[in-house]
Amino acid sequence: MPPESISTTVVDGLALANEIRKELGEAVGRHVSAGRRAPRLAVMLVGDDPASASYIKGKRRACERIGMDSTEQTLPAAASQEDVIAAVEALNADEGVDGILVQLPLPAGLDANAITGCVDPAKDVDGLHAMNAGRLLLGEPCLTACTPLGIMEILERFEIPLEGADAVVIGRSNIVGKPVSLLLQRANATVTMCHSRTRDLRERCRAADVLVAAVGVPLLVKRDWVKPGAAVIDVGVSVVDGVLTGDVDTAGVDGVARIVTPHRRGVGPMTITMLLRNTLTAYESRIGT
Ligand code: GUN
Repeated sequence: MPPESISTTVVDGLALANEIRKELGEAVGRHVSAGRRAPRLAVMLVGDDPASASYIKGKRRACERIGMDSTEQTLPAAASQEDVIAAVEALNADEGVDGILVQLPLPAGLDANAITGCVDPAKDVDGLHAMNAGRLLLGEPCLTACTPLGIMEILERFEIPLEGADAVVIGRSNIVGKPVSLLLQRANATVTMCHSRTRDLRERCRAADVLVAAVGVPLLVKRDWVKPGAAVIDVGVSVVDGVLTGDVDTAGVDGVARIVTPHRRGVGPMTITMLLRNTLTAYESRIGT
């Protein structure tokens, strides 16, 4: 099919997110109507990174809108590893907390893996604990990282065929690249994980039916990197001259991709929605419904 004949859908991640949040709000409402407490998410911020503070505000608002409780705890940038771990352990012990999220990145000097590894796996709504990451690898039920879940939801709702599809993931982070590769593989795609040392990256991307860019290199994926009819998912967030920029040249892939997620109102709202869903899942497992 010549590229000109493809009509590209720019995914409205916010509209999709709102549909799912409505269902989640109804589920929360049913618990509360039955006399149970609302689920509660605890978010921890270490330091005062403005981008992180703004993400946390979005999470708090999203909780409020569906009737979920949230708490926020800020530790100083100078907090020690022991201080942060003690704060995580207090949340683990708090019966009223269902989900715990330690906002990343952490200030330099803190060991993020050691800290996320202290979160109770039953409250690990980021899916970063080795228990959850390992269970994902083994194909067992677990709490899974939110952005990968959001990506899978977008692919499903847009009916992108994954069975036997060639999927390319650029980026190998613990929070996006690795888990989304496993989820795509579980959906029977053939997955290639690419990264900064990959040779012939453009050629590999051009072979992809599903292309996930999660590497943080502004506008890396250009029109001639995309196979006609591919689903292109942009997870990258970079700031270029004060402007938020994704990994994909969204305008450039118009008329080539079948769907593309924009860097604003694309995957981001879906990530928050999956955080709400994970918190509800953790709550329901904990209260035994
Ligand atoms: N910072 C940016 N995205 C995320 C996320 O999904 N989880 C956490 N904990 N921190 C983040």
